[in-house]
Amino acid sequence: MIYLDNAATSFVKPAQVACAVYNTMIKYGANAGRGGHKLSREAGDILYDARENLCRLFNINDIERLAFCPNTTYALNMGIKGVLDKGNHVIITSMEHNSVLRPIETLRTLGNVAYTIVRANEKGELLMSSLKKAIRPETKLIVMTHASNVCGNVFDIYNVANLAHEHGILFMVDAAQSAGILDIDASKVDLLAFPGHKGLMGPQGTGGLYVRKGIGLYTIVEGGTGSSSELFSQPEEYPDRLESGTQNVPAIAGLNEGVKFILSEGINTIRQKEEMLTRHFISEIKNINKIKIYGTQNQKSRVGVVALNISGRDCVEVCSELDREYDIAVRGGLHCSVLAHETLGTKDIGCVRFSFGYFNAMQDVNKAVYALYKITKK
Ligand SMILES: Cc1ncc(COP(=O)(O)O)c(C=O)c1O
Repeated sequence: MIYLDNAATSFVKPAQVACAVYNTMIKYGANAGRGGHKLSREAGDILYDARENLCRLFNINDIERLAFCPNTTYALNMGIKGVLDKGNHVIITSMEHNSVLRPIETLRTLGNVAYTIVRANEKGELLMSSLKKAIRPETKLIVMTHASNVCGNVFDIYNVANLAHEHGILFMVDAAQSAGILDIDASKVDLLAFPGHKGLMGPQGTGGLYVRKGIGLYTIVEGGTGSSSELFSQPEEYPDRLESGTQNVPAIAGLNEGVKFILSEGINTIRQKEEMLTRHFISEIKNINKIKIYGTQNQKSRVGVVALNISGRDCVEVCSELDREYDIAVRGGLHCSVLAHETLGTKDIGCVRFSFGYFNAMQDVNKAVYALYKITKK
């Protein structure tokens, strides 16, 4: 099987990720921060170490401001619903995932917030001037993806951070497609939502939210934190405020190994490899008759995600054919991002998405090119 669906979740993972999950389950099968015994302390140490390594990767100084959660979707919901008050205005872009759009749409239908969608062009490229125009006196938050999960376009989050801060607006980044793939300096943004199971190479069921010191969040989940247990209300201290209930210690131990792997390989090495695979793929398929590739033509502004369609063919059928006839795993259809599909003109037809990872080889890309070539000749 050639796995080219890394934008959904990365596979394969470094062996030490799976070993850490297994070892944690058989050696330290206890809850972190719940009791003074040795096993609980060992479990707590695993969480601490993982938090510390993530902070090193994302250039975060205040380790307690990074909370674990099950995935990016939870992190986005915690951040968005946590900072917004009734009457606030939010800016998002037309390249956002439904996990940004839907929480904000929910708040809108409750009558709590208004929002503006800043439209990208048909290649999914955004203009800073359009973002600027959308700012209102009551704008509290801009939420934006670092890289599109549909077409792979990368957005200049640091420029947007500057714009937001010049206007006293909070800036939240959805790093679902960039964590572990692009260099991220979280100290320049206010909130960062990230998955553990994609570019960070951890198991499913992991992710996190960074909240800059000084920003207070309303909680969307309350419960036992193992701290301040005498209180009726949720503790104010971070990360406990955002980490109610039993933490997924085995999976976080695996995530820690994924992050350690990335730190030792170096983010630039990872980026270069994925860029090389993607560039080669695009250069080989762009002249195949009948193939339309979506997204920017600027190769430097892309992660390893390529969306395409073959004229006259249904994208889900193409996906099945790749799986059945060529043993190639990709995703077809709509990719949980109605706005991005509208922008790219694929809302009614969907697209086939190839997404490369660090463990793919050039040979995998060549096999995918060959398969596409054969499919277009049918
Ligand atoms: C850009 C983007 N945002 C958010 C998400 C949601 O991520 P998760 O599955 O970790 O909740 C995804 C998932 O693919 C994504 O690509």
